[in-house]
Amino acid sequence: MPQTLKQNQTKPLPKHIAIIMDGNRRWAEQHNVPRLAGHKKGIVAAQRCVEAALDLGIEYLTLYTFSSENWKRSAEEVDSLMGLLRHYVGSELARMAGSGVRVKIIGRRDNLPADVVDILKKTERLTKDNSKLFLTLAINYGSHDEILEAIRSLIKEVEKGGLKPADITSDHLSRALETEGIPDPDIVIRTGGEKRLSNFLLWQSAYAELVFMEEYWPDFDAGMLERAIREYQARERRYGARK
Ligand code: IPE
Ligand code: IPE
Ligand code: MG
Repeated sequence: MPQTLKQNQTKPLPKHIAIIMDGNRRWAEQHNVPRLAGHKKGIVAAQRCVEAALDLGIEYLTLYTFSSENWKRSAEEVDSLMGLLRHYVGSELARMAGSGVRVKIIGRRDNLPADVVDILKKTERLTKDNSKLFLTLAINYGSHDEILEAIRSLIKEVEKGGLKPADITSDHLSRALETEGIPDPDIVIRTGGEKRLSNFLLWQSAYAELVFMEEYWPDFDAGMLERAIREYQARERRYGARK
């Protein structure tokens, strides 16, 4: 019988799994249901994913929920996505507070609806002492925005005289990002068959193993998470060195 992931002591589990949850609209088309139904199923899949990560003992999980470019979609779709966030994040996250999940939100807050921002802040506050799983939700997030913001904050430090340009290291930039304190992802999974990062964790994923899966996000389950982890475990991470 094949070993379960938990039994396999020789191949460590990834510490941080990041996921581009893609394919909700295509899933809806495939099932002849409205787009919104695809996004709703996507939320259920995200809940399954969090449960599976908790069950495996994964320490960090980051989910790409809404990108800074997703505003380009129709007002109707954006509105319904914000509605889902409001509804599900609000109710679901209260439950997470009881299951040991700590939630952090990354992404710009200034152009999100004020009540959504309130729900997100409340969730961060409510879960701040939890330590079983660190769940980061990237909402209205884009790597370029995040890196630019980090550069601006480093420039301010230089202007104040606390930092010399020549002394700036990659650690300074890492610490100036919204993901400060979160280890870089070991693996980035993208469902839905597209093979690109779409402005997700570009700096942080420099040495992440990329796993692309054909299935649409609403079909994601514990079995798919395990399959992605096994693929990760079969890879050889060299970081530019020879074995
Ligand atoms: C991912 O699914 C969800 C969001 C980006 C909000 P999509 O809505 O991108 O679905 P596809 O990729 O068009 O099928
Ligand atoms: C990436 O998916 C964003 C999220 C999954 C939240 P998109 O569907 O927006 O990406 P593109 O447009 O195919 O690159
Ligand atoms: Mg997509």
